[in-house]
Order: sequence, then C-alpha cells, then structure tokens
Amino acid sequence: MFRLAWFVNYGFGQYGWGGRWSGNVSRDVGRPELFMHNTKTLENAGFDYVMLEDAPVLPDVYKASPDYSVEHGIFRLDPFPLVPLIAQATDHIGVIATMTTSYTPPYQAARLTTTLDHLTNGRFGVNLVTSSPHAVGQNFGRDSHYEHDLRYEMADEWIDAVRALWDTWEPDAVVMDEHTGLFADPAKVHYANYNGQYHRTRGPLNTIPGPQHHPVICQAGGSGVGRTFAARNADTVMAGTKGIDGMRGYRDDITRIATENGRDASKIKVVHLIEPVLGDTMDEAKAKDRARQEAAAADIEGKLAGLSYLSGIDMSQFDLDAPLPDMADKVNGHKSSYDQFNRIAQSGKTFREALSGRSGQQTIELVGTPEVVADQMEEAMEQVGGDGFLFVLPFTRKNVAEVADGLAPVLRRRGVIRDGFAHKTFKENLQEF
Ligand SMILES: Cc1cc2nc3c(=O)[nH]c(=O)nc-3n(C[C@H](O)[C@H](O)[C@H](O)COP(=O)(O)O)c2cc1C
Repeated sequence: MFRLAWFVNYGFGQYGWGGRWSGNVSRDVGRPELFMHNTKTLENAGFDYVMLEDAPVLPDVYKASPDYSVEHGIFRLDPFPLVPLIAQATDHIGVIATMTTSYTPPYQAARLTTTLDHLTNGRFGVNLVTSSPHAVGQNFGRDSHYEHDLRYEMADEWIDAVRALWDTWEPDAVVMDEHTGLFADPAKVHYANYNGQYHRTRGPLNTIPGPQHHPVICQAGGSGVGRTFAARNADTVMAGTKGIDGMRGYRDDITRIATENGRDASKIKVVHLIEPVLGDTMDEAKAKDRARQEAAAADIEGKLAGLSYLSGIDMSQFDLDAPLPDMADKVNGHKSSYDQFNRIAQSGKTFREALSGRSGQQTIELVGTPEVVADQMEEAMEQVGGDGFLFVLPFTRKNVAEVADGLAPVLRRRGVIRDGFAHKTFKENLQEF
C-alpha cells in the first residue's frame, strides 16, 4: 500500500485566477471555505494529508520589483490560522503548515505547534523550511538571508531546541486528578535550558502536551545538508527528484542517512511529486496534456518569475536566445531545485528552449484515464519501494474532484491506498503501513 497527499503550492493564497476552472476566486479569496471543502473531499478519498506551502515574502527578485507578483495575485496569507478551520471541517486527515526555521524563535514555534496539535485533536504537522530569497531575511531585520548551508546548521540546532521545549513536559505530566485537585505533576515538568550557538531558550513551555506530543514533522530538503536534515528529523519527506531512478535514489538516501543516525527508517514516509492529467479516454487525457504543455510553454514570463524566486537571481537580465550562464554556485535559494533546471540549461540549449521544456515539478509523467494512471502509480511504487505520492495540481475544486472522485476510487478498489483511518492521530495513521 502507499499513501496520498496534496501539496497546496501557494499556501493560503488563491488558485485559478485568470483560468477557466477557478470558480469564484474573487469571492473566495481570503476565505477558508475552499480549503475546508477540498480537504474534506480528499479525506473522503483516502488522503493522508494536505500540506500548506508558505514563504513570508512578496516575491520581488524578478525585474527587482514585486510588480509581477502583485499583478498575478502571488500573495500568501499566513497558513497557521487556517489550520484549525480545516480541522473543524474534517475528522481524520492530517493538516501541515509551513514554518521557517530561520526566522521563527524556537519558543514561539514549540508553543504554536503544540497549540495547533490540541486544536486539531492530534492531526497537525509542520513543514520545516529554511527559506529562500534575501528579501525574507530583510523582512526579519537582516541585510540579507543566511547562506544555504549555514541555515541548515542553524536548523539542526533549532529543531533540537524545539524538541527540548516540547519535552519540558513529560507526556504524562498532566494528571488532572479530580480527587486530590492536582492538575499536573511538578516532578514531570522541567526547564529546557537549551544553550546553542544560534539558539537559546529556557522553558518550560506554558502549554500542556498535545495529543501527539511531538507533531508530525515534514521536510523537503534536496541538497546534501537538506537531505541530512530531513532524514534526521522528518516523519514525512516530500521529494521532487525526477524519474524512477531519481525517486528510488532519493528514498534510498533518506533511508541510509536515517539509519546511520539511529532512526527506524521505515517510519519515515517519502512522498513523490506528481501532476497527473486525467481524462475519460486516452485521447482526451493526451489532448489535455498537450494543451497544458502549450500553455505552460507560452508563459515564459511566469517561468522567469518562478525561476528568479527559487534561485534568488533576476532572470529577466539574460538573453532568451542564448545559453544561460552556469550560475549554480551563486544560488542561495532552493539550491537543489535550481540544479535540476540548470542541468537542462547547460545541455546546449538556449535559455528559451530550456524554459519551454516540460513544465512542472513532477517526478514521473502520468497521463491517461484513471485506470491507466493508477496502473502507472502502482508500477512506480513497486519499482521505487514507497511510500506514496504528493499531488501538486492547482488547488481548484475541479482538480481535487478529478483526483478524489476519479482516480482515488480506482486505487481504493485495488486496495493500494487506505480505506479509512484506524487511529486517532495523524502520526499514527501515517505510520500505519
Ligand atoms: C514539495 C516541496 C514543497 C516545498 N515547500 C516549501 C515551502 O512551503 N516553503 C519554502 O520556503 N520552501 C519549500 N520547499 C523548498 C524546500 O524546503 C527546499 O529548500 C528545496 O527542496 C531545496 O532543497 P535544499 O534547501 O536542500 O537546497 C519545498 C520543496 C518541495 C520539493
């Protein structure tokens, strides 16, 4: 069996603006209903979790201006307040929101995540990112963002500090003995007194342990240091490495590093990015795929803006009809994601040709009827070894319905995805198989 998850890739933003199946974006925007409705639909379909992306910045690397983001509605409301609203609309599915380890103090992180673990009744997870463009650093009072490897070194300490805070209350510290009137046992509440190079915190937390005690940790490190951070700390890892070999290699790497660090790697669930194109017939699916590729290839400006954001380099300055200079060692953003593009750009193509290659973040191409796509997914899982898929289609009702009502039932009938939730907490359900 394998698991399904959905990457809500502009977080608490908008989906479908200017597109055909956008519903009532202008009415929905800033409202929780779309997220509540879609997550409930995915829960019914047997999904393990939704993951709300985030970045505390209005992207402005492209043309050194926020104009592109402003004109195209690339904004993000804070995803954390959305979590309990989604939890209210659902009963079993996990809800993950993204937090930056570089700019969130450990005490604030430990307290907020514990509070959300309570509010979701043990269904909360946090996606840990180190953040990308310099503007994020500037938003938090620095001249620039921390250097890539340094921020993972800081994140290593950060998660130790957060764990130390979570552990300031032993899991059974709260006794709530109505006969003696004792609320919690003082012998089971301790100071953290964490004293690192980058982070210091005292504790104890002024929260009580949530149902999971340590909420689910999600991560997507792609570089060497990123993978190590993920393997050492995450319960679920999101991967975008291309092709069956790339998927298997990434998962094997996570397994190896986790084992070297004394973890039970079978408890870490790697999910691989996919953007399936579904149709009633193969012809319909192929035509949809062609139309999607043509639209993406025509949107050169969108690709330039996206690449500028993830690399931190203004891509508007380069000649589209000449090869792109090799700048991999200058990238301080999502390093490994840029490296994947750079390999294509350095293979003798012009910048325009490299940009107009197959779009998207998917690991394998999935195009066809629900039955055909289900076959391909099953086969990929057999070859890779696990542990599931992360859908990255725009979070519109149409996309969610196609997957939840078309594809997922086929997978469920075959017995390869869950048919209900055996446990109360997100972590227990995630680790069930
Ligand atoms: C599926 C997926 C989701 C991600 N979500 C976020 C996010 O919400 N916010 C963010 O700043 N980075 C996000 N990232 C970027 C990763 O945290 C990471 O920086 C990236 O994969 C590059 O790896 P590296 O940091 O080890 O170079 C995501 C990456 C992937 C593959």
